[in-house]
Amino acid sequence: MGFINLLFWVIYPYVAITVFVVGLVLRFDKDPYGWTSKSSQILERRMLMVGSMLFHWSFIFVFIGHIMGLVIPPSFYLSLGISFSSYHEIAFYGGAVAGVLSVAGLVILLIRRLAVPRVRAIAGIDDYVTLGVLLVVMSSGLLNTLGFSLFVGPYDYRYTLGAWIRSILTLNPNLTIMATTPYTYQLHALLGLLFFAVLPFTRLVHIFSLPLPYLWRKNIVYRSMTKKEAPKVKSQTE
Ligand code: HEM
Repeated sequence: MGFINLLFWVIYPYVAITVFVVGLVLRFDKDPYGWTSKSSQILERRMLMVGSMLFHWSFIFVFIGHIMGLVIPPSFYLSLGISFSSYHEIAFYGGAVAGVLSVAGLVILLIRRLAVPRVRAIAGIDDYVTLGVLLVVMSSGLLNTLGFSLFVGPYDYRYTLGAWIRSILTLNPNLTIMATTPYTYQLHALLGLLFFAVLPFTRLVHIFSLPLPYLWRKNIVYRSMTKKEAPKVKSQTE
């Protein structure tokens, strides 16, 4: 059991994180023009719009939920006066809605990929790996949020999964804490790490190409030329 714990909860996470970081750097260096989401909008638009919007917007909330539950320690919420039950209620309803919508969006994208002949024709193995890994990882997350909470009862993963993740991120790995975590949560954590390990080799790299500088860069002002400027520019170009 000692070695299994070491393998699953220390060695495997660091291997996955290393593959993630080194893979991204190498991919960016060797294949900068392949750093794309490979849009197929030109081949089919309607299903893409519905599936992609559902998936991307709700995924942002799933991501924020993971940071809130796993990276921020519970002491922070207690200092704000947020009790376990209040936290659980917010996490349960927020997570359930975001999780169901994002998995629904993903299923639409998968059906589109398989059922629309033009989209299927350009599909490569990485498209199926991307959608398949996302589906397995996200369904296993939802299994916990909905299945565990409804059928077993509320589980405060912030003290186990959260403490483990924080121990990995601070390079002080806690070897034993995950052994006390329910199996469905263990499964989701192992699959979640797989997501990071495969990400650099798929079109998911586009996650890191969000055009965020648009939020703070100076506006570009477009205006028509005044009558005075127009002849000057004309003579310069002649
Ligand atoms: C090591 C990495 C990960 C850990 C430890 C982790 C942990 C968790 C936990 C504790 C929950 C909440 C369960 C509950 O409410 O009882 C959850 C839910 C979920 N996870 Fe993860 N997760 C990881 C990675 C991922 C990744 C990479 C994805 C997506 C690609 C993902 C998708 C989901 C989804 C869709 C849900 C259900 C909605 C929600 O509650 O946010 N997880 N995960």
